[in-house]
Amino acid sequence: MMRVGFVGWRGMVGSVLMQRMQEEKDFALIEPHFFTTSNVGGKGPDVGKDIAPLSDAMSVDALKGMEAIISCQGGDYTNEVYPKLRAAGWKGYWIDAASALRMKSDAVIILDPVNREVIDSALHAGVKDYIGGNCTVSLMLMALGSLFRAGLVEWMSAMTYQAASGAGAQNMRELLKQMGVANAAVAEQLKDEKSPILDIDAKVAETLRSASFPTEHFGAPLAGSLIPYIDKQLDNGQSKEEWKGQAETNKILGREGNPVPVDGICVRVGAMRCHSQALTVKLTQDVPLADLEAMIRGSNDWVRLIPNTREASMRDLTPAAVTGRLEVPVGRLRKLNFGPQYLGAFTCGDQLLWGAAEPLRRMLRILLA
Ligand code: HSE
Repeated sequence: MMRVGFVGWRGMVGSVLMQRMQEEKDFALIEPHFFTTSNVGGKGPDVGKDIAPLSDAMSVDALKGMEAIISCQGGDYTNEVYPKLRAAGWKGYWIDAASALRMKSDAVIILDPVNREVIDSALHAGVKDYIGGNCTVSLMLMALGSLFRAGLVEWMSAMTYQAASGAGAQNMRELLKQMGVANAAVAEQLKDEKSPILDIDAKVAETLRSASFPTEHFGAPLAGSLIPYIDKQLDNGQSKEEWKGQAETNKILGREGNPVPVDGICVRVGAMRCHSQALTVKLTQDVPLADLEAMIRGSNDWVRLIPNTREASMRDLTPAAVTGRLEVPVGRLRKLNFGPQYLGAFTCGDQLLWGAAEPLRRMLRILLA
């Protein structure tokens, strides 16, 4: 059985990975070893079989014994440990949720329902580093990857509505705290149906702007508001998250040499763990809507075409409906007023599943096949 090391299995993405691996009975197929940065010798998670005590995640010697390592520990860990491990001659597979190695020329961004042939040819060529993509990009490609693969995308604009979970577990907690504080500020007035709404609104605005409003993690109010900037600021006016849209989409598709322009504005909203995106696609040719729908519907087992009706969109195309599910709904599909080559779409997906944990466990399955 393949010896597979897990690092960062206790964090939010790692916990979702453990959950999914249990559901899919992946642990039955491997010899799992769990690593820790803080509790060496401690007890690992219950994965339905006997496992050794926790090993030291900073020990190159201990890590070297693995045939594959899956890390959800974050980019700082990858930057510190991965080069030492390779320098020590380790030839195993490195599967990572962090972005640190994503754009390395000999690393592949894994999203096998979309780029299985890129993964297969890399495996064949002896590539050892397989890195999960940015959540927004992965979810967009799960929804509309078929149009790129058919050569139908001249360019795409992705306007995002990203959930708190993309910023981390503490941010999810902070969003809920903010909601609570905002609610508490007007709880009395809310009990009285006749209390003036403008008084309530003024009180909420004062609360959101007050120095005591909890913004330690987000740096700004998110509840009752939004944050139009995600990740670092780049020199070209884009945020790092916006830059990833084009860079990673084209790397996933293996077409960095002939990139499709992708751009947009990435915005944090008060959703818990589903990222949504409003997409505008300039098609390379005028394809009938029904043909585009058929292409999208047939592209993978998880995409779900939602009819462009008010009722279906409100029921099936929201973070509340999609959270915790692997399905990636895409709807609001229609040709836009700009002309027959302009397609509008809206998609929503759980960023901890397809956006983080799922591609990692599926890469392991590919190695085991
Ligand atoms: N960068 C993403 C976000 C999360 O902040 O929502 C992971 O790709």
